[in-house]
Amino acid sequence: MMARVALIFAGALALAGGIVAQAQPAERSVWTGVYSAEQATRGKAAYAQNCASCHGESLSGIDVAPALTGSGFLNNWNGTSAGDLFTRIKTTMPLNAPDSLSGRTVSDIEAYLFQSNGFPSGEVALPPSPPMMAGIKIIAQKPQ
Ligand code: HEC
Repeated sequence: MMARVALIFAGALALAGGIVAQAQPAERSVWTGVYSAEQATRGKAAYAQNCASCHGESLSGIDVAPALTGSGFLNNWNGTSAGDLFTRIKTTMPLNAPDSLSGRTVSDIEAYLFQSNGFPSGEVALPPSPPMMAGIKIIAQKPQ
């Protein structure tokens, strides 16, 4: 009788272990809260100053430059990382003055782009450094 109880108990433990093993933290992505709301607010002001003249006040693009929200933009960046987008902005934008913005300003603007594309904010700000963002995937569709 005791042996049987022990066996059932061991089985239950193994089952619980399996469940814990499956509940590993999900991959870090733009859906896991990788910027802070406060940072996005700073980014909004920096965007208005440095980007809106070409990309439009509402990020929807105007004649001279493409939209930075919506499916076209997200398809271009789907499967890349936050670090890739950071480097693209830092080294090529503003088009008329590439590499003129500090890393912090660029990460603030990127946070604003994420917010405008419907990605949730979190506790911690997006760091101003591509290696620290390389593990943050840009995924257009919210994972299940
Ligand atoms: C003088 C006009 C101008 C300004 C100012 C400007 N851009 Fe651009 N941007 C463009 C043009 C034109 C393109 C498309 C051609 C290219 O890729 O170089 C572009 C492309 C981009 C892309 C790639 C879009 C895609 O779908 O892949 C991003 C991201 C971007 N800009 C971000 C920014 C940010 C952020 C700022 C402000 C820091 C900014 N741009 C300021 C003109 C501008």
